[in-house]
Amino acid sequence: MHLTRERLDALTERFGCPLYLFEEAAFLENARRLEQAMQSYYGKYRIAYSFKTNYTPYICRSVQEIGAYAEVVSGMEYELAKRIGFSDGEILFNGPCKGEAGEAAFLSGSMLQVDSLDELARLCALAGEHPAQQFRIGLRVNIDVGQGFVSRFGLDEAGLAQAFRMVSPVPNLTVIGLHCHISRCRSQAAWRARMETMLALADRFFDGPPAYLNLGSGMFGSMEPALASQFDHVPDYEDYALATAALMTEHYRGQEGPWLITEPGTTLVSRYVDCISRVQAIKTVRGRHFAVLDTGIHVLGETCTLKQLPVRVVSGGRPQQRYDAIDLTGYTCLEQDVMFRAFSGQLAVGDYVIFGNVGGYSNVLKPPFIQPNCAMAAHTDRDDYVLMKRAETGEDLLRTYVF
Ligand SMILES: Cc1ncc(COP(=O)(O)O)c(C=O)c1O
Repeated sequence: MHLTRERLDALTERFGCPLYLFEEAAFLENARRLEQAMQSYYGKYRIAYSFKTNYTPYICRSVQEIGAYAEVVSGMEYELAKRIGFSDGEILFNGPCKGEAGEAAFLSGSMLQVDSLDELARLCALAGEHPAQQFRIGLRVNIDVGQGFVSRFGLDEAGLAQAFRMVSPVPNLTVIGLHCHISRCRSQAAWRARMETMLALADRFFDGPPAYLNLGSGMFGSMEPALASQFDHVPDYEDYALATAALMTEHYRGQEGPWLITEPGTTLVSRYVDCISRVQAIKTVRGRHFAVLDTGIHVLGETCTLKQLPVRVVSGGRPQQRYDAIDLTGYTCLEQDVMFRAFSGQLAVGDYVIFGNVGGYSNVLKPPFIQPNCAMAAHTDRDDYVLMKRAETGEDLLRTYVF
């Protein structure tokens, strides 16, 4: 979407600045591309959108429109999913600490993916207290595909064997699927290893195919070339489908295979939210150039501190000057609040600076630090703009304190 100065003036006049802007049509097209790539190799594939990545209700509702499930990890996210209209059968409840909400979701028929034997012991007891009801769960497994660290999540093979022993005497509780998720391990080879390991575990622990195999997430999503060029190699959805869905077809040839699920979060949403900001001041200090913007690292999310986000500048009308290396810095009082180091290009006070790829772990992780967060708008697939979240006020942040 080409944002002209006139359009930016109108948007910021209407919604305020800075402003998160969600591109709905492109987001939906990306989700469908992932789905189609996987389904072209294995028909029984489904997305479970990772709510925590960006639980803006408007975005979650868009996900629901394409028939995806909701992947939630807390009572708050579970309630949100229900409020949006996901049925319990469409909710996967993950996380190491599900609390009472997890038990309520279990009793209502959501699919809990159990992280520990202690959690499982409580569910076995709960099932025992409700003998007339049938319960189904998944187990999160802890696998090693060469990620180079020991994850704290899920059950290793010994834990898995113990889990099946615990469930077998409970007549109304059945393990119907396996789940894994591995972060910081996005290569095609790692995904192939993940799939192969899950298939081997399914063969070992189930009599026949389970109801589902859930591979979690940690794929590279679609990215602008400026960002993709900062990684060694970025597989596309076709590559991931070849490493996973194609193996499912092969493995379950001639049988009714399990559902294959993945839980994309950043993979789906990161590229499709921009942050529109404005230059408030430009200064040169001891020979170094700094632009002060009305947004910051907490608004954009951590990625801006690890990589250089795609950045576009749109003139606000004042005469610009060329800078070869100017740091784009934020509104906080933190030295490390630098959103882009050594930017080179034309810049003036009043210019719009649009940061791309800020859809994941941004608004949901923004702390109440120094300033309330800005508004969020969606550019809808009907080419109009609607408010997704109003700007927070100081009162929103202070209301839980006792005066
Ligand atoms: C269990 C689980 N599923 C899905 C996700 C989303 O992964 P991504 O943002 O890589 O798509 C995460 C992220 O940490 C996760 O922990």
